[in-house]
Amino acid sequence: MVQQAILPIQLVNSPSGSLQLIFELKEGIPTYRLNKGADFVILSSDLGVVLENEDLSKDFEIIGYQKRDSSSVWTQPWGEVKEIEDTHTELSVFLKHQSGKRMNVIFRLYDDGLGFRYQWPEQELMSEFVIMEEKTQFVLPQDHDAWWLQAFIPNRYEHINKATKSSEIDTAATPLTMRTSSGLYLSFHEAALTDYSSMSLKNTGDNVFQAKLFPWMDGSNHKVRANAPFVSPWRTIKVNETLDGLVNNYIDLNLNEPSKIEDTSWIKPGKYVGIWWDMHLERKSWYSGDRHGATTEYTKEWIDFAAEHGFDGVLVEGWNLTWDGNWIENSNQFKFMESYPDYDLEEVVNYAQSKGTNIIMHNETSTGIENYENQLDEAFAYYEKLGINTIKSGYVGDMIANGQWHHGQYMVRHYRKVVEKAAEHGIMMDVHEPVKDTGIRRTWPNMMTREGARGQEYNAWSGDGGNPPNHIPTILFTRMLSGPFDYTPGVVDVLLKDNDEGRPNNRVHSTLAGELALYVVIYSPLHMAADLMHNYKQYPIPFQFIKDVPVDWEYTKLLAGEIGKHATIVRKDRNSEDWYLGAVTDENAREYVINLDFLDPNKEYEAIIYSDGPGADYETKPYLLLKYGQIVNSNATLKVSMARGGGMAVRFKARN
Ligand code: NOJ
Ligand code: CA
Repeated sequence: MVQQAILPIQLVNSPSGSLQLIFELKEGIPTYRLNKGADFVILSSDLGVVLENEDLSKDFEIIGYQKRDSSSVWTQPWGEVKEIEDTHTELSVFLKHQSGKRMNVIFRLYDDGLGFRYQWPEQELMSEFVIMEEKTQFVLPQDHDAWWLQAFIPNRYEHINKATKSSEIDTAATPLTMRTSSGLYLSFHEAALTDYSSMSLKNTGDNVFQAKLFPWMDGSNHKVRANAPFVSPWRTIKVNETLDGLVNNYIDLNLNEPSKIEDTSWIKPGKYVGIWWDMHLERKSWYSGDRHGATTEYTKEWIDFAAEHGFDGVLVEGWNLTWDGNWIENSNQFKFMESYPDYDLEEVVNYAQSKGTNIIMHNETSTGIENYENQLDEAFAYYEKLGINTIKSGYVGDMIANGQWHHGQYMVRHYRKVVEKAAEHGIMMDVHEPVKDTGIRRTWPNMMTREGARGQEYNAWSGDGGNPPNHIPTILFTRMLSGPFDYTPGVVDVLLKDNDEGRPNNRVHSTLAGELALYVVIYSPLHMAADLMHNYKQYPIPFQFIKDVPVDWEYTKLLAGEIGKHATIVRKDRNSEDWYLGAVTDENAREYVINLDFLDPNKEYEAIIYSDGPGADYETKPYLLLKYGQIVNSNATLKVSMARGGGMAVRFKARN
């Protein structure tokens, strides 16, 4: 019998041929390359991991390949689009190490990107193992423009993005966005981070980026503790010719497993208000005493307000013991079922339900993980019994209490455990200070939204005065590519007249219209209306838009945009025929005309436009808002006109 040689090289085309993947075993080292037509996207890059007692990045032979095509469409229970197409070509490479150990690399090639993961199948030679280093490389053909966040620094992802050449990157968190000289947009990230350490990308020079994992912080320097059979998360590279393509690139979601929750009817996107901004402005306190925010009385006022204006939830922070003293240091004492004496949890929950709204439970852990995990079962069962359907959790702290990174395997496991526990109890999650989003909402659709970036809170107290105007047009093309963001928009009193005297430079660095636009440009299935009741009473016109705007969409399109400069996004409501537009700009005023050809050609719409008024400017005249109406159809055009640091928001209300 003649044994057929297995070629060391395999070429795969994406379903319609726009991308080519080349796998090659080079002197025992697995490598891959990625091309887009004549454009090199990724040059020959090494693959592999180093285990505690075996180097699985060299000395391999190929024992087989398998190719498979797949095409399907699936429906998101909620989302920025309703239907997602998953058409890809899969190449599995079965490798055998000289030690006899087996490791496979699974590639999925889409027309707009590549995902690949390592797989350690069940085998006699491997059971428990430890990954000390991942050797995955991303070798770029040249120096690109890059937008990125420094990794391996405290305070998670709550920083301003840097815009530099890729050669100036040190170690970047993902998603990491780049633009090539030929105009391609790239985003490097990972999908299905389930039981692994999160990946950052380290610039090792000469346009070579290497995966860098967060270690267990117990002196072991272990990155991942595993047990075969085991898979890594998918390493993903999005490749798009347009920013609209990049914003609508769903390979990360496609690479996550389908929902494990069969009946998702209880999972409902919505908008919320609550006792939150008060504390960030230092008008009220999380801790007990005269200024305590979470009182039964004040909560009822908010419930009445939420009920009157149609909000689905009321967030109440600082309700539980123990916020007194230094709550960051007292992380191991938080109680998740015991309220302060001036807050009657059951009474407010019942009152909220009688008014058709809900209390959003707040669980700040300040990174007391064991303390939280010890109370999880009982607390979540109690919340379920009360009928609470949403929890906002928090993990304030540079690293966690016993010194672990928010991004390492220990915390990845913790965050996942909480999401699964919440699902068991019919609870939706909104996680602050989270690990980054890698699309797990597909598998656990109760994982609604998260922070994981500089949010509105920085405008209240950050030493630098708050988020600069180019923050939003930057994160739309960086952080937001990973998934929903609980930014907590809707601060209509942009100059923060309610702020405490000691912080005169803090404010929202935008205009009223710009703040409204955030409800459309920032995607989140739970969006807050963050401001205080008296400010909404004072500004009923912008408040009307906040009340009208939905949070669950059928389609999303980016009509115009430049990273770090501006963006105009339109989305169609899932539950009506209405479309909404949001536009934001940096510190430059901008004006351009857009076609309304996204509208249904058989319909007429009343465009209700909230725009910066003449002379508006985020620095000098942030409150100048112009509201006007216009009848339009899909043949019409619209002038998007934004003041310095401003924006525009439009509701296209279908007329028939
Ligand atoms: C930080 C969160 O981002 C914020 O929303 C919350 O109010 C505080 N932690 C307190 O939990
Ligand atoms: Ca935060």
